[in-house]
Amino acid sequence: MKLELPKWYDLHAHFRQGDVMPHLVRDHLAMGCAGILAMPNTAPPVAKVFENDDLPYWSIEAYTDMLKKAGGDKFSDIIVPLYLTKATKVAAIEAGAKTGILRACKYYLFMTNGVFRAMEEAGVVLCIHGEEHGMAAENYFDRATNAEEYFYRERLPRIVEKFPGLKIVSEHLTTKVAVDFVRSAPATVAATVTPQHLLYTVGHLLQGLKHHLYCLPLLKFEEDRAALRAAVIAPANTKFFAGTDSAPHAKKVTECGCAAGCYTGGIAPQLYAQAFEEAGADLSPPSSRTPKAEGSQDSRGDSSSQAPRNDSHGFRAFENFLCRVGPEFYGLKIPSETFTLEKTPQDVAALSVGGEHIIPLPLGMKQKTLPWRIVQ
Ligand code: DOR
Ligand code: ZN
Ligand code: ZN
Repeated sequence: MKLELPKWYDLHAHFRQGDVMPHLVRDHLAMGCAGILAMPNTAPPVAKVFENDDLPYWSIEAYTDMLKKAGGDKFSDIIVPLYLTKATKVAAIEAGAKTGILRACKYYLFMTNGVFRAMEEAGVVLCIHGEEHGMAAENYFDRATNAEEYFYRERLPRIVEKFPGLKIVSEHLTTKVAVDFVRSAPATVAATVTPQHLLYTVGHLLQGLKHHLYCLPLLKFEEDRAALRAAVIAPANTKFFAGTDSAPHAKKVTECGCAAGCYTGGIAPQLYAQAFEEAGADLSPPSSRTPKAEGSQDSRGDSSSQAPRNDSHGFRAFENFLCRVGPEFYGLKIPSETFTLEKTPQDVAALSVGGEHIIPLPLGMKQKTLPWRIVQ
């Protein structure tokens, strides 16, 4: 089975800085990415728009340049969100939006100084890591509730109400509560979903303590994964889109035991395809589907016996999730260039940079091959 798809945008990924950056960029180009949204949690963070602002941070101008020099000039678009701090000024939002360099901001603190209003007016997207800060451990991750559910019950509804024109991306959803909120929210609210949150639950993380699966927000339960899967495979999905949160860490095992983040550079469409199939989607593209008379064999012979049958719109839903909903939300052009996914096993290899190793998520899960590969 071969799927020809428009090149896609990874609308949430981490490209870090320094020597590792060209390797991360190369992996993203190799997986058919037309463009990226590169998160600004670098050191220092990307917390000013223009290089000539005198705040002690990196600027969107400079970080975009670094990405381009690292091979990112081959992307047709790069969005770097502004890391919001207490020093963020309304004037910077207005000026940044006017030049077109500022298209999104990443929210880590609650802003009350007019910044959200300025973003709303300038059409700048708010990217939210939706977890309540500073909760007691017993509430942060409990059977009855957790930091994400609290955020989607108590915080985000207020922001949406107060800023009805503000475009919001709820990043890396992990709970049914968040999925339900996004689905019932106005069209200004959409969400990214990572491969790991579609593939796994907290049980996979804990069974054998698979620290490569440790990311934030933490994986949740089967009910939550089912809600995420249902949201992305729905044929009428207009809100849920690809954002891998690919987050490389050379040393997953740190002094404190772990660093949060799963590396999925180079293999994300493959993992998303795997997740869609596990969710029951039939990914065979319309042209390759053969009408089945009673008792007849599928012309492709092998796959019909295993292929799930409950979603004949699977391919369209997959293309929609990976290639259309996100760029439409951000107002990006859907590329005419394509890339191809093929249902043939692919080996996964570690990424080695300067003597350090970044372990892609499947390897960390002791999975050495993927059911899908990208063919150039
Ligand atoms: O797992 C995560 N890793 N979650 C985040 O929010 C940040 C990211 C990173 O930068 O490593
Ligand atoms: Zn985050
Ligand atoms: Zn992230």
